[in-house]
Amino acid sequence: MDNEPIVLMSSREIEKMRQAGQTAAELLAYLEPMVKPGVTTQELNDAAEEWTQKRGAKSAPLGYPNGSSNPFPRSICTSVNEVVCHGIPNIKQILRDGDIINIDVTPLVDGYHGDTSKTFFVGTPSPIARKLVEVTEECLWRGIREVKPNAKIGDIGAAIQEYAESQGFSVVRDFVGHGVGRTFHTAPQIPHYGTRGKGKKLRPGMVFTIEPMINEGTWEIEVLGDKWTAVTIDRKLSAQFEHTVAVTEDGVDILTLPPALVPA
Ligand code: MF3
Ligand code: CO
Ligand code: CO
Repeated sequence: MDNEPIVLMSSREIEKMRQAGQTAAELLAYLEPMVKPGVTTQELNDAAEEWTQKRGAKSAPLGYPNGSSNPFPRSICTSVNEVVCHGIPNIKQILRDGDIINIDVTPLVDGYHGDTSKTFFVGTPSPIARKLVEVTEECLWRGIREVKPNAKIGDIGAAIQEYAESQGFSVVRDFVGHGVGRTFHTAPQIPHYGTRGKGKKLRPGMVFTIEPMINEGTWEIEVLGDKWTAVTIDRKLSAQFEHTVAVTEDGVDILTLPPALVPA
């Protein structure tokens, strides 16, 4: 994925990405009120699939990657508590008061991918769960704030890592942000840790995700026997937030802002 050329999108392509990104944000907003004790992750998946089909869009995660012997079997990722990412919705997984759940959606709209995720509280969170989720969202914003022409990819990860570690948390290394467009995952890779001034230079027209996964304990993860579900090795909590962004001539354009935050 990282040896592919970095695509620079025209403004008309970025508008296509915004369509996909807005659809993704609307889907997350649609699912949010369903996140309550007693709901199953399969019910969230099925609601997402139905909503996406009604929009005339496709769920990119379902069957991804094409041609794999172990494609992702659902339409969204639902990652609860110690699950870092790529949790698989299941009829037997019932959300309970105090859980945290990341919902990651990627509708494919007219050939373009909109990739966004948020972590939600189920009922009332513990103090540590609340802090982890708040810090993780702030990590995403601090990463986004670094995005401008001539900044380096390392600036993004450094800002995220500095803040996460200052709050006593750790940054997952095994999964990174990614270029996104007509292809779900492409160059460049965007690590959520690193060193200021290092890495490739950001240029107008680059479109990629920033999606920090922040752990309560150690950053180390393992992948379960289903070959998808990534969990913290210490089984402590993990949270994640994700936006798809474009580098503009003078800064950043967040393509997956929720409807209420889109400037008129
Ligand atoms: N949406 C995830 C990401 O942020 C990728 C999910 S891949 C899947 O990159 F196959 F699990 F869907
Ligand atoms: Co995603
Ligand atoms: Co992504």
